[in-house]
Amino acid sequence: MSQMVTQGLLKQEQIDFYRQNGFVQVNDVLTSEELAELREYMDEVMGADQGMSLQTDQHGGAYYRVLNQRVNTWRDHAGMARYTTHSRFAEMARLLTGASGIRLFHDHALLKMPGDSKPTPWHQDSTYWPMNEDGALSIWIALDDVDENNGCMMFVPESRRAGKLNPISLSDPQDLFQYAEGTGHDQSQSVICRMKAGSATFHDGLTFHFAHANVTDKPRRALAIIFMPDGTTYSGKSHAVTNGQPLEKDQPIRGGLFPLLARGV
Ligand code: SIN
Ligand code: NI
Repeated sequence: MSQMVTQGLLKQEQIDFYRQNGFVQVNDVLTSEELAELREYMDEVMGADQGMSLQTDQHGGAYYRVLNQRVNTWRDHAGMARYTTHSRFAEMARLLTGASGIRLFHDHALLKMPGDSKPTPWHQDSTYWPMNEDGALSIWIALDDVDENNGCMMFVPESRRAGKLNPISLSDPQDLFQYAEGTGHDQSQSVICRMKAGSATFHDGLTFHFAHANVTDKPRRALAIIFMPDGTTYSGKSHAVTNGQPLEKDQPIRGGLFPLLARGV
């Protein structure tokens, strides 16, 4: 691992913290100019009514009350693409995981809307992903200051050691902690990550996480980007991002829609 790169992007303590706990908070991953630019791009892409990205639900729907989500904004907007594919974030993911290379799985704009907002229930992301191996992770970049009033994130340290439990429906949730009974990981251990806009958390796909409902009068904007270690193979599980793509079961997920964004030296 290159010490120079590590020093520039992440402290060794942050890498150690992620490897122990399965999440880490990294402040100020965007400059104030970048934050302003990314907010503008995200507002543009969320306001567009067509494109190649996927809008998960419409206003009034049960999922929309949890998240107003658009998947793969980078395919519609060159400005979003610049951030989603930025080597800075992928390189951080590479340093955290120790992977030899990092590919993009997908980005998603995650807005928690004001008015009848619901929390994002406790869940593990990797239960939804069509990947055979563990190790994929998300960066979640706050575009607004976040706390428990508008949907900041919470994590259970070391919970990825519980392994992959059952998927949770985000709009009609089961109780993840019932599935986790006997694993030694429970809600009382959770850690809250209040952050300034322009800061981020990284979390492993197996880490238990949650976000509060938004009880303010403004949307809570976040850009999440899912990265996977190069070589991660396709499980064949149905997923909106991989269905219809020319991927072979048990072969590496690769190609222009899943670009290699960071590579070790
Ligand atoms: C959220 O943005 O509310 C949740 C993000 C996640 O589940 O990763
Ligand atoms: Ni999640």
